Amino acid sequence: MSLPKAELHLHIEGTLEPELAFALAARNGVTLPFADTEELRHAYSFSDLQSFLDLYYALMAVLRTEQDFADLADAYLARAAGQGVRHAEIFFDPQAHTARGVEIGTVVEGLSRALERSEERYGISTQLIMCFLRDEPAASALETFEAAGPHLHRISGVGLDSAEVGNPPAKFREVYELAAAAGLRRVAHAGEEGPAEYIREALDVLGVERIDHGLRCLEDQELVARLVREQVPLTLCPLSNVRLRCIDTLADHPLRRMLDAGLLVTVNSDDPAYFGGYVEDNFTALRDALGLDRETLRTLAANSFKAAFLDEPRRRALL
Ligand code: ADE
Ligand code: ZN
Repeated sequence: MSLPKAELHLHIEGTLEPELAFALAARNGVTLPFADTEELRHAYSFSDLQSFLDLYYALMAVLRTEQDFADLADAYLARAAGQGVRHAEIFFDPQAHTARGVEIGTVVEGLSRALERSEERYGISTQLIMCFLRDEPAASALETFEAAGPHLHRISGVGLDSAEVGNPPAKFREVYELAAAAGLRRVAHAGEEGPAEYIREALDVLGVERIDHGLRCLEDQELVARLVREQVPLTLCPLSNVRLRCIDTLADHPLRRMLDAGLLVTVNSDDPAYFGGYVEDNFTALRDALGLDRETLRTLAANSFKAAFLDEPRRRALL
């Protein structure tokens, strides 16, 4: 039986399964550059983060209407329920849609249509985290934040994703200051492909409360000591790390070393439609590759609730 857990690192666009992509393409009259789902699945062979992002952004062409975003989120939530997820903090990439002429309101209101029914339908509480694309100019992030204004009551926090190397966190200082002033939570991808220094910068310049990935903190022992001392959560995504070649095999994953060092690590799925598994699949694959016992798996599940942006009554109820 899968342990109850929170999912804290999940890109909703990364849950677009090939079957749904083709169904939405047909519904919206969009032609995909793949003959069928099998041919599409064959394209899921990545050499690094950028090779994945190219396909990830291309497939989003099928997402056009509020109902498309509602269907996407509902399909994720139905799957997540079967994987023991009781709380999900869900990333979305507004600029990937506005750049195609889809308004941010269409995205947020569509996703919210599914999220609003999630507790009742699936027993999953949800939050939305709006991510800025770090390989776009800082001015574009600022425009996005402004456009999100009428929808901020539906958004809990901001994040930072897309191509990391060469796009340091400090580039987004201003928009994170605005987000903080608006009372939003702050997270950022750092130390996935980029250096440990980006993790420090995300903490010091952007004021983030969690680091997404954070794998490369291990190259800087002073930083590790700080992350342990401050109990900064790291949202690890093991299957993603293998598929994007951040590590060679799951048996090489440093999760056990990170736990032993006292880091507050959680296990998540990132872009499950592309990386071969949802969150429970990540738990199971880690268990098998690293020989994790039940107690360690329970610690990881408990960490997910500790690291979540939950109110205290709900956290206590879930822990
Ligand atoms: N966008 C979607 N998945 C991502 C990842 N793993 N890293 C950076 N940006 C992403
Ligand atoms: Zn991610």
